[in-house]
Amino acid sequence: MVKIAASILNADFGNLGQEIKRAEEAGAQLLHLDIMDGHFVPNLTLGPQVVKSLRPHTRLPFETHLMVTDPEKFSTPFINAGSNLILFHVETVSRPEKLLKEIKIAGVRAGLVLNPPTPVETLLPYLNAIDQVLVMSVNPGFGGQEFITGALDKISVLDAERRKKGLRFEIEVDGGVNPKTGALCRKAGVDILVVGTYLFQAKDIKEAVKSLQT
Ligand code: DX5
Ligand code: ZN
Repeated sequence: MVKIAASILNADFGNLGQEIKRAEEAGAQLLHLDIMDGHFVPNLTLGPQVVKSLRPHTRLPFETHLMVTDPEKFSTPFINAGSNLILFHVETVSRPEKLLKEIKIAGVRAGLVLNPPTPVETLLPYLNAIDQVLVMSVNPGFGGQEFITGALDKISVLDAERRKKGLRFEIEVDGGVNPKTGALCRKAGVDILVVGTYLFQAKDIKEAVKSLQT
């Protein structure tokens, strides 16, 4: 069964504690925290202090999506704030394997993120060093955007690669996910759907989670 990572970017930031409880009670398995520095992406969101204050409000694992120009500088503060997984963009570091190793030495899962214009081949050299790959199906920065179908081919290539090489990393997709696009991603081999707007703007968030898994 595909896992649901609730992305809080389009949740009510005035009530984040309640919003993450809502996502947990609705059956989401992970909480997806979008960290933006206003430099790598044209938006600014939350820092380690906010993540630390959210930590006691839920038992859900925190997957922290670093959309920042300098992830080496931010991985430790977000690990110390309570992240269970750090995802950083392959476009932002010259030697991803170094930071991947540092994150794992800290006892936290590590993953790479791929933007829509970046070819999936960019990730292939690192697949044996990661726990998770995040394929962006929107250009990062905002929730509520349209799904970019090019993500589907990348998911299939990654799924074929892990079968061929006997690797166990998980494949995740992020941006514009709803029951329709989510079903296409599942068919292509995805394991985790990041869902923001479709969940938090739903009339019934529990039904919304179910609709993504059937
Ligand atoms: C966009 C973020 C996504 C986004 C997903 O830069 O990385 O996590 O919040 O939100 P929806 O599901 O609204 O596209
Ligand atoms: Zn994200």
